[in-house]
Amino acid sequence: MIDGKKVLYSGMQATGNLTLGNYLGALKNWVTLSDEYECFYGVVDMHSITVRQDPAELRKRARNLLTLYIAAGLDPKKNCIYYQSHVSGHAELAWILNCYTYMGELNRMTQFKDKSAKHADNINAGLFTYPVLMASDILLYQADVVPVGIDQRQHLELTRDVAERFNSIYGDVFTVPEAYYGKAGAKIMSLQNPEKKMSKSDENPNASIYLMDDPDTIMRKFKRAVTDSEACICYRDEQPGVRNLLDIYCACTGKTPDEAVAEFEGKGYGDLKVAVGESVVSVLKPLQDRYAELSKDKAYIDSVIKENAEKANYYAMKTLRKVQKKVGFPEKVR
Ligand code: TYM
Repeated sequence: MIDGKKVLYSGMQATGNLTLGNYLGALKNWVTLSDEYECFYGVVDMHSITVRQDPAELRKRARNLLTLYIAAGLDPKKNCIYYQSHVSGHAELAWILNCYTYMGELNRMTQFKDKSAKHADNINAGLFTYPVLMASDILLYQADVVPVGIDQRQHLELTRDVAERFNSIYGDVFTVPEAYYGKAGAKIMSLQNPEKKMSKSDENPNASIYLMDDPDTIMRKFKRAVTDSEACICYRDEQPGVRNLLDIYCACTGKTPDEAVAEFEGKGYGDLKVAVGESVVSVLKPLQDRYAELSKDKAYIDSVIKENAEKANYYAMKTLRKVQKKVGFPEKVR
């Protein structure tokens, strides 16, 4: 609790081009929840270097991502929007929690398996212990709730296990966080292969809607989206392409799947694709305009970076000191 409010933590990697999946699965919910909670949103650049990055490019993308958080509607006066690498407590807590996490647990992480298959020439220890850094992000701020897409479920479960393990040894040190998944949009699938999640690292640009795609590109990608030959606009597992389009539509319009299905009764896939495309454009266009405006204001973004890093450090240090004391590190002599 901070000033009587529960705490929310979430973060995003500044790698690749953000997709509609990132927005509907995470960012959009962050904005909705931001009044109710005391919020911390990290640009998790320390996670990004588990895969090789071009340094200048990473710096640029990190700043763009931070700007995007604000453009999406997160007020940096109320929400702590910061770079993970500006708060050394993340790395310090991660080291400690590495010693309370088992190899067997990390070995089971599907994201590690996927990423190491993809980057076979660089299976580094950071990639393996990535979930411990993520647990540290969350536990450092004593978060009650963590809004994420479903692909992060396993990491959230590990975070809870590590927190409970630590608490069972040392007493109530960490708040055990709950994951929050939005009603619609928690798993947006590829437009070209609806069995696969929409991902920023997909090689086929038609598979993903990028947050900065212009309206024509968005409409074109939806028109090419893979559906099926059932000719039925139904919300069911057997029609993953159509279901994904309906999910996107519901996440953008706030409608339920039943309402959406009723609306498209008697219509064809072409109509559905146009309506989904338009609903996405109407959500992304204001975001893009605001982003373009904010990007010009260098001094403002710099001030957000500075002030929020201080705030994040303050709360991070509070937890870190407590943890250091519990595990037996000597107090500093002042
Ligand atoms: P990342 O950067 O891959 O994704 C950021 C957020 O977007 C969600 N997401 C999706 N949601 C729905 N459909 C999709 N197709 C889709 N693709 C991505 C992700 O679930 C995520 O919420 N490890 C995390 C970043 C992280 C983090 C944290 C998150 C680091 N520390 C602490 C929460 C709390 C990651 O790589 O997300």
